[in-house]
Amino acid sequence: MTANRMSIFTLLALALLVALPGGNAAADAHGAASRPTVLITGANRGLGLEFAKQYAADGWHVIATARKPAQADALNELDVRVLQLDVTDLESVAALAKSLGDAPVDLLINNAGIFPRASTIESVDYEDYMRTLAVNTAGPVLVTSAVLPNLRKGERKKIVNITSRLGSIELNSGNNFYGYRESKAALNMFSKTLAGELGPEGFIVLALHPGWVATDMGGASAPLSPEQSITAMRNVIAGLTPEDSGGYRSYDGKVEPW
Ligand SMILES: NC(=O)c1ccc[n+]([C@@H]2O[C@H](COP(=O)([O-])OP(=O)(O)OC[C@H]3O[C@@H](n4cnc5c(N)ncnc54)[C@H](OP(=O)(O)O)[C@@H]3O)[C@@H](O)[C@H]2O)c1
Repeated sequence: MTANRMSIFTLLALALLVALPGGNAAADAHGAASRPTVLITGANRGLGLEFAKQYAADGWHVIATARKPAQADALNELDVRVLQLDVTDLESVAALAKSLGDAPVDLLINNAGIFPRASTIESVDYEDYMRTLAVNTAGPVLVTSAVLPNLRKGERKKIVNITSRLGSIELNSGNNFYGYRESKAALNMFSKTLAGELGPEGFIVLALHPGWVATDMGGASAPLSPEQSITAMRNVIAGLTPEDSGGYRSYDGKVEPW
């Protein structure tokens, strides 16, 4: 058999493989089979939206969540799969897991968060306080637990919790932001504990501070744009090794004090 005939046979065999049922396997409308998958919470605006934009532009299969998908105009314009999720609603979290089925998720970014500003102990409103802990701390715990079967099927096994420097006890020289600081300090503790539990399975868990960024939460005078923050955080996430698991870092890769 000549070299030419052999390559024709090889091409025919490849064409047949692609044409067979399952040859193009589980690729969904977004081509999920051939690309790494990221799941991002709170992706209809701010940092979550920019994460979705950049990962989609980089060829990832992006599953982006919003509390109100029908109103998530900027997100719906992207080539991403949009799913409903309120991280404080148990039914919504269960529905998300059900929608995912047994699809692998390589990277989970627990990004959704709120920042009520209570700067004196007397101004703390109990409902706001509990809601902050529910969204910023319990939310990532519930979501991670619900999608763990999907993360176990993923190849990269990375979980990134978007925290804040305001959650650092060591750096806290302030006298403000009751609720938010506690919620992020607890999120940091969750990250470390989770890293301990899932490390033996090959998971890498990181608490990642995005910097002070010009979003609805960060305000217009913040020094970083969402593009800058997300570009830098994506670099950190891409470079993570098992030795980094359980860490607390800033968007620029700098290790933060607990
Ligand atoms: N921006 C900063 O300077 C800064 C600094 C340090 C840390 N961070 C952290 O970075 C993350 C993103 O912040 P951001 O600046 O992008 O804030 P943002 O612009 O206010 O966006 C917050 C996102 O979280 C979503 N969200 C709020 N409550 C939710 C819930 N119960 N369930 C699901 N999603 C919910 C919001 O959805 P809706 O539109 O439906 O409300 C929105 O998509 C947060 O965890 C924040 O604490 C931000």
